[in-house]
Amino acid sequence: MQYLAYLVTILAASALAKAQDRKPLVTPEALEDLINRESLLAHAHKLLEFSELSNNNRAFGSKGHNATIHYIKSLLDETGYYDTEFESFTYSYSEAKATFTANGQEFFTRGLGYSPSGDVTAPVVVVNELGCNPSDFPAEVKGKIALILRGTCDLGLKVAHAGAAGAVGSIIYNNVDAEPISGTLGSPSRPQGPYVPSAYISGLNGKAFIASINAGTEVVANIRVTSLVEDRVTSNVIATTKQGDKNSIIAAGAHSDSVPAGPGLNDDGSGTIGILEVALQLSKFSVDNAVRFHWWTAEEFGLIGSEYHVQHLSDEARQTIALYLNFDMIASPNGGIFVFDGDGGATGIPGPPGSDAIESVYRSYFDSHDIKTGSAVFGGSSDYQPFVDIGIPSGGLNTGASGTKTAEGAEWWGGKAGVAYDVCYHQRCDVIENLNVDLLERNSKAIGHSIAVFGRSIEGIPRTRREPVQTLRVSQLSYEERLHLTCDHDDERI
Ligand SMILES: *[C@@H]1O[C@H](CO)[C@@H](O)[C@H](O)[C@H]1NC(C)=O
Repeated sequence: MQYLAYLVTILAASALAKAQDRKPLVTPEALEDLINRESLLAHAHKLLEFSELSNNNRAFGSKGHNATIHYIKSLLDETGYYDTEFESFTYSYSEAKATFTANGQEFFTRGLGYSPSGDVTAPVVVVNELGCNPSDFPAEVKGKIALILRGTCDLGLKVAHAGAAGAVGSIIYNNVDAEPISGTLGSPSRPQGPYVPSAYISGLNGKAFIASINAGTEVVANIRVTSLVEDRVTSNVIATTKQGDKNSIIAAGAHSDSVPAGPGLNDDGSGTIGILEVALQLSKFSVDNAVRFHWWTAEEFGLIGSEYHVQHLSDEARQTIALYLNFDMIASPNGGIFVFDGDGGATGIPGPPGSDAIESVYRSYFDSHDIKTGSAVFGGSSDYQPFVDIGIPSGGLNTGASGTKTAEGAEWWGGKAGVAYDVCYHQRCDVIENLNVDLLERNSKAIGHSIAVFGRSIEGIPRTRREPVQTLRVSQLSYEERLHLTCDHDDERI
């Protein structure tokens, strides 16, 4: 009898200890309140520091990127709240960097994918027509640099013809005045001729050189190209709460890599640190539904990490994901606030059933703060796409990339009409000063709000059967097509 009483006392004491141990159930207000700009900026400074380890970028598999993913994983491991893992694989990294001078003056050029490395200096000779036929190349191009207009046929064919004609280098100029956004020779080699080191310049500069040459002034150009192709081992970071229902996983993601051209503080340092800070603060609470955070690698090479992940989910694992939230660029310097158009009402491209309910959570959040929202299109240029492809309700936020802010947008959110949302998009200048800290803080709070809402309940989100992975759209693209998938996204509407 006495023994039994003793046992009861022990059991009661341990139940009490457990109850005290149990953290309070997360609420949207409590989680949001813990997000502040100081902590966000401290992470941003770390990312910038990491980019300095690898020539000012955090391209996938570089030292700067590796440091980024280790930083994320160690902070999460310290909380003891998550099961974390690196999901690793090998992917081919390629880089084409070029510089271009004419008569000693430097001009902007894009590197062309597959252009051979080299350093050539020679007079420039203008090619007839578009350089799509060998006969377009005058005999005097031999030993010189061929200047060719973009259009009609592949850039690679033009450059191969230049090589066949004996040119030592080639310059493609744009068929509009502007700088070209990105370019590639399209395939590693061509039967028509050998590739030569190549530059890719604005239409305005191309026409100016032709005018000089026609006026009798020689133009001597120097083209320097550094090309690199190598297999790199890289990893997604995945962190899942130990606690919460693992049959209703709330998934959220941002990409951890930058483009090779710059440190990527907004793209996508902003999303990376937004979900990181939310994940760290979430560890002070309990959740009813498990929450899983993803930091995708190699997004800038065409959604490689997210597609790899979804492709390798078992049929059973796919059914356990209740929804997916994506945060790619949430602090654009001249940004707006764009909510993914889950119901397709604004863009005509709805997400899978349930995406409308996700959209509503964000619209109500910003409404309650008297902030207007535009709509982001499920256009395929970020990591939501593989989830959308298999029917997982999706949503999220962004603040705009290369698109231009309208007059109405400037009225709603401030900033400058007629200027890109992010003037440093995919450039060297995407540094700390490029971050709109107000947007970074507001959107990180919105992420916290949504994680808490869904961490408590997924009412209104249907659990339809997920599609097989054969339907993944991006996996049908070539390496080159994937590489350019995320180059020019202009996916926002107001
Ligand atoms: C980055 O990490 C991968 C995987 O651990 C490793 O194979 C690679 O050598 C690292 N890269 C650099 C530049 O340190």
